[in-house]
Amino acid sequence: MIAGWHTAAMADHDRTAPTPDFGFKPTLSGELVLLRPVTVDDLPALMPMFDDAEVTRLTGSHGGVDEARLRAWYDTRGDQDDRLDLAVVEQATGNVVGEAVLNDWDAGNESCGFRIAFVPGTFGRGLGTEAVRLIVGYGFEKLGLHRISLEVYAFNPRARRVYEKVGFVAEGVLRDALLWDGERVDATVMSILAPDWSRHRGRPGGPTEPPGRRTS
Ligand SMILES: CC(C)(COP(=O)(O)OP(=O)(O)OC[C@H]1O[C@@H](n2cnc3c(N)ncnc32)[C@H](O)[C@@H]1OP(=O)(O)O)[C@@H](O)C(=O)NCCC(=O)NCCS
Repeated sequence: MIAGWHTAAMADHDRTAPTPDFGFKPTLSGELVLLRPVTVDDLPALMPMFDDAEVTRLTGSHGGVDEARLRAWYDTRGDQDDRLDLAVVEQATGNVVGEAVLNDWDAGNESCGFRIAFVPGTFGRGLGTEAVRLIVGYGFEKLGLHRISLEVYAFNPRARRVYEKVGFVAEGVLRDALLWDGERVDATVMSILAPDWSRHRGRPGGPTEPPGRRTS
């Protein structure tokens, strides 16, 4: 778990904002998933994510996939000193089920973007919620970020539910942000701030977190 270092890290954060060390690639272990640096060897396991029509739609990924470019991409994730690309591994099976990424680091404003996607067939088992908690917790407690933000499309209530469960708050709507199959789709901007995280550590509903009400 990410417990163990969070108290010291938050104390550091409270004193001064450290420069995030994105060059160090951590392994974050939870009950259901383990997050570790993604490598090119993970590409075969991740490939269904790029080939699947539903995942492509939910992530608003236009354009086809070029395997050579993907290989070059995953081959260089470990060298990046301004972002963190982690593979999500299911603890029960050892299978790589997806990836979780802190990107678009804005040093001056101590903020980052976030994205996550899993391969088809792995949804709805709680893996995503735990993965988001682990990497967002690392972003605040270890990297010293102040703000982590994302965009989620209106046709993706499952992802929105996961983000809300971890404490992301809707800030506004980007109208008609996506054009998909002739339909224009709104995107909601959501963020979570370091003070939010200090307060609830990814469980805004409380430690036992009763099953939430679905938004649709
Ligand atoms: C988004 C994603 C990472 C979430 O991971 P996951 O493992 O499926 O999510 P979890 O099982 O942890 O949680 C799903 C939650 O959504 C809820 N949910 C599922 N379908 C829902 C719907 N139609 N409306 C509202 N909530 C829904 C589940 O009930 C659960 O909430 P609960 O624990 O309160 O019951 C994963 O589904 C995914 O990769 N999807 C495809 C790509 C994608 O959408 N990426 C995000 C782009 S912004």
